[in-house]
Amino acid sequence: MKNSLKYYRENQEKIFFGDNGSTSVEIGIKMALQYHFNTGEKRNTLIAFEDGFHGDTFGAMSVSGLSVYNGPFEDFFLDVKRIPTPNGSNHAEILETLKAIVKQNKVAGFIYEPLVQGAAAMKMHDAEGLNTILKFCKAHNIITVADEVMTGFGKTGRYFASDFMETKPDVMCMSKALTAGLMPMSITSCTQAIYDAFYSDDIGKGLFHCHTYSANPLACTAAIAGLELLQSHTIQQNINHIIEKHKIFGAYIKSHPKVKSIRQKGIIFALDLDVEMERYGDLRDKLFHFFMENGVFLRPLGGTIYIQAPYTITDAQLDKIYQVIEDVLEVV
Ligand SMILES: Cc1ncc(COP(=O)(O)O)c(C=O)c1O
Repeated sequence: MKNSLKYYRENQEKIFFGDNGSTSVEIGIKMALQYHFNTGEKRNTLIAFEDGFHGDTFGAMSVSGLSVYNGPFEDFFLDVKRIPTPNGSNHAEILETLKAIVKQNKVAGFIYEPLVQGAAAMKMHDAEGLNTILKFCKAHNIITVADEVMTGFGKTGRYFASDFMETKPDVMCMSKALTAGLMPMSITSCTQAIYDAFYSDDIGKGLFHCHTYSANPLACTAAIAGLELLQSHTIQQNINHIIEKHKIFGAYIKSHPKVKSIRQKGIIFALDLDVEMERYGDLRDKLFHFFMENGVFLRPLGGTIYIQAPYTITDAQLDKIYQVIEDVLEVV
C-alpha cells in the first residue's frame, strides 16, 4: 500500500483518544470551533456535505445530512451549511456556493467523509473536486476535518482516503478498523498548528473531552495488534487480492439487466439495482432475508447492495457473496 503509516506524522502530529466514531467526530468539531475561540476569533458555522453521515451525538447529527435518523432533533442543531459532493462537473458551482457561505457566515470548519459516503449508500465523489474544496478552506482558515471513521485503515486501497488528495486535513477522525472492528476505540488526530492553539497555561484553552473508556488499555492493545497486522505483507496482499476480485466481479455483473450501475473504491464495492427500493421497505426486507437465508450478511441500503468485507476473507467466502448477489437479482 502506498506510504507507510509513519507518513501521517508529517501531517497529523497529535492524537486525542475516544471510544467510538461519533465521539471522534464530536471532538473534531470541538477542535475546529475552539481553535478559532482560542485564537481570538469566534466562528460558529460549519460546512458539511449533503447526505453525509457522521454519527449519532448532537454535533455529529448536526453535520450529517438531514434524514429520518435525526429529524426530531433538527431544531437543536449547530449552525451547518451544506454543499453538494463534487461529481467532476460541478466544481465551479461548489466554489461559488462556498464563497457565498464564507461571505455571509463566520465559518469555523468543514467536515467531510473523504471520497466515500458510507451511510449514503457508498456514494463516491471525485478526489480533484474535494481537493479544490480543501484548498479553498485552507485559504480561508477553515479547519478541515476528515471523517475517516469508515474509510480509514486500507478500505479505499490506501491507508486513508485522504491519501488521494494533495491537500491534507487539519484534523482526522478514526475508529472502526482502528481495532479491526473488535474493540470500541477512536482517535481524533490533528496537526501541530491545531495542537499549539490549545497548548497554554490558561486552563480555559484546554480541550475538555473525556469518557470513562477513552483510551481503554484493552482497546489500545487491540489497536496496536491490528495496525501491525494491517502493515503485514499478508494483509496487504489480501487487500490487493480483494480489490482485483471485485474488479472482475464488477466487470461481469455490470451488464446484468437488473443492475443500473456499479462502483468501487478499494475494497468497497457497490451495485445499484435498476429498481425503485425504499431504504426501509418490503423489498429491502426481502433482499436482506434472502441474503441471511443464503448464509451471507449483506445489508442493502436503498437500491444499493454493497460489499465491505474483512481483509481476512477467503476466496471461497468472497465467491459465495458474489454468487448470492447474482442469485438475488433473480428475485428482485
Ligand atoms: C463516516 C462515519 N462517521 C461516524 C460514524 C459513527 O461511528 P459510531 O457508530 O462508532 O459512533 C460512522 C458510523 O457508521 C461513520 O460511517
